[in-house]
Amino acid sequence: MTAESKPMESETQNNRGHNSSLGYKTFKLGDVEFSRDLYFCHLKWPTGSHSLHIEPFLRATLRMYQWQFFFGSLLYDDLVGFTNHYGTVELFIGRDDPGFQKAEKTHAVVMETGEALEDLCAMLENWSGGQFDPFVSPRETGRSIGAHSAPLDHLMTNRRLLAKRILGGKDEAAAWSASNGQNTNEHFEDLEQIQPLVHAEPGYEDALSAFNVFAHLACQEVVWNPSICSVVRHNAVCITTEEEELPVWHKNDRLEWFVQLSDEIIWDIQNGADGQKRARVIMRSGDVSAMPHDIRHRGKSPKRSMLLVWENSDPEIHKKVSAGAVPFLSESLDYAAQS
Ligand code: PHB
Ligand code: FE
Repeated sequence: MTAESKPMESETQNNRGHNSSLGYKTFKLGDVEFSRDLYFCHLKWPTGSHSLHIEPFLRATLRMYQWQFFFGSLLYDDLVGFTNHYGTVELFIGRDDPGFQKAEKTHAVVMETGEALEDLCAMLENWSGGQFDPFVSPRETGRSIGAHSAPLDHLMTNRRLLAKRILGGKDEAAAWSASNGQNTNEHFEDLEQIQPLVHAEPGYEDALSAFNVFAHLACQEVVWNPSICSVVRHNAVCITTEEEELPVWHKNDRLEWFVQLSDEIIWDIQNGADGQKRARVIMRSGDVSAMPHDIRHRGKSPKRSMLLVWENSDPEIHKKVSAGAVPFLSESLDYAAQS
């Protein structure tokens, strides 16, 4: 953490009049100040200010922190987000918003990724008190409204599995299942968790692994937090259980594929560059979609559902995409293209 970004002890009243007697610290990322009160995170920078509801803010920030900013940009809303430049990270305000652009009010801070992660970690630890678990579905957690208190013990624990080759393989974490001791979520109690049997030829015992993806997802306790379940070269197959709303808008810098494994997710799709509405994609069990690189999306899952996300983890792919060196897939997501 740099000297500039060290948390400042709250005063009884800060210079915008927000009452900070609740005991929360105020943080600075570059010249952007983050403070919290009962219901909101307030941002203040030399030419403007903005407020975000605290619970969605904490849900989004914990994912940004644990995913180390993921691919492309993660946004809290239509104004504020982080872009991953793979080594550095940019906190932007209004950068992709036509109103801010027209008024010449956009603002950005570029930081070393490690420094930004330290700042988010300190903020999460200080602001996520009480019984609020930002990772579980809203129906399964308490709230984060009130004065400062200690967060849940497991707040910062990494609650996803990251396979190097395949879950359950040699020296790899085992997929979740009831037979492995995990609890089954009540929305998936009707699912039979039969595990595959693997009969390997002698000598191939360490090279083969199989598991029941549906059992793994029925036992995922968190939502909107994909585990990498298998990897082949730059293909990362990520599986996750979803409920209520994805806490971030994701503006990718590459194409990604979705396979809806159960139930339904409604995706709101906007232009990546300016947030204009582009499409609403309703995915039901068995549906497959390719999300192009030039959009941002956010999912809504009316009941707990299962999703597979296929990511291209080629460290050069975003450069090929921005250079126009790979095929684009985009027009099919225009409202105009829908009958
Ligand atoms: C995505 O942005 O593509 C995404 C993120 C988290 C999920 C699902 C999809 O759980
Ligand atoms: Fe995405």
